[in-house]
Amino acid sequence: MPVIHSLYREGAQVEIDDQNCSRCGSCAAICPAQALCLENGHIRLSEDSSFGCIGCGHCMAVCPKECIVVKGRGISPDDLIPLPAPAAKADADSLQALMEGRRSMRHFEEREIEPEVLDRIVAMASSAPMSIPPWDVGCVTIRSREKVRKLTAEIIRGYEGFLKTFRPWLLESMRLFIKRETYEQFKYFIRPLAEMYLASYREGRDIVFFDAPAVIIFHHSPYIDSVDTTIATTYAMLAAESLGLGSTIIGGAPPILQRNRKLCDQLDIPKQNKPATALVLGYPSITFRKALRRHFSHVQTV
Ligand SMILES: Cc1cc2nc3c(=O)[nH]c(=O)nc-3n(C[C@H](O)[C@H](O)[C@H](O)COP(=O)(O)O)c2cc1C
Repeated sequence: MPVIHSLYREGAQVEIDDQNCSRCGSCAAICPAQALCLENGHIRLSEDSSFGCIGCGHCMAVCPKECIVVKGRGISPDDLIPLPAPAAKADADSLQALMEGRRSMRHFEEREIEPEVLDRIVAMASSAPMSIPPWDVGCVTIRSREKVRKLTAEIIRGYEGFLKTFRPWLLESMRLFIKRETYEQFKYFIRPLAEMYLASYREGRDIVFFDAPAVIIFHHSPYIDSVDTTIATTYAMLAAESLGLGSTIIGGAPPILQRNRKLCDQLDIPKQNKPATALVLGYPSITFRKALRRHFSHVQTV
């Protein structure tokens, strides 16, 4: 059977209980990797699948007779859990209320977040879709304001270094060799932002992590795109909202973290992994009185 990421990983193992199989074909129909087929009335592993079993578990989850077992690539039969009761599912109104009621929050109460609440957020976020199973995203939760403050100090040090090296003349000398948007981004956004981080920090204000009591940093392996971390972070943000916490996605810190391997080691981020997003969390100390309607730049139908 072919294996996905043959250089890096094994495909998952699939066991089919042919005797008890009802031959409904649901597992073959649902398999996104076309790894299963119904052949002469029997479910078989397909020889033609480009990837083999990617370990998504859909076949196990759809089988009415529990006749398929998938093991490996981060999945096992223990991962089959009961479906939430229909009444427990958020309907469109409650989901919309959660989404529209959320605002990015940068002001937090003194109190710390209970560890079990942070664990729940991570568990809830792990239900997010990934580009290909298994999850190649990891996360590290910094669980106290004191630790977050230490991390802020490191990020500030990183930005100090950036400003010392990346002088305006250097950007001007690169102008002809970089895209206009990159030039403008550095000139009008990244440098001013770095200066703002430093100036605020010197005045005793943390506008990197907003003196939050907790931060979750999401990182990913080189085999996937950072979009997977963004989706996981968004799920974590909605989970936090549902638990009464305020949060803000922080894109400003990971670029500094990415360049500080020592710090990544301290945070236990695997060597090959790249920190891509961060989420600050805390109990909000400010209450919004209205929601805001947002608009995509373009909304078309064709
Ligand atoms: C990818 C991404 C990165 C972000 N990075 C930062 C950041 O570094 N600092 C910050 O204060 N807000 C950051 N934000 C939050 C946005 O500024 C915020 O979502 C925006 O102001 C809109 O506000 P709302 O979330 O209340 O709708 C980020 C948001 C996203 C999606």
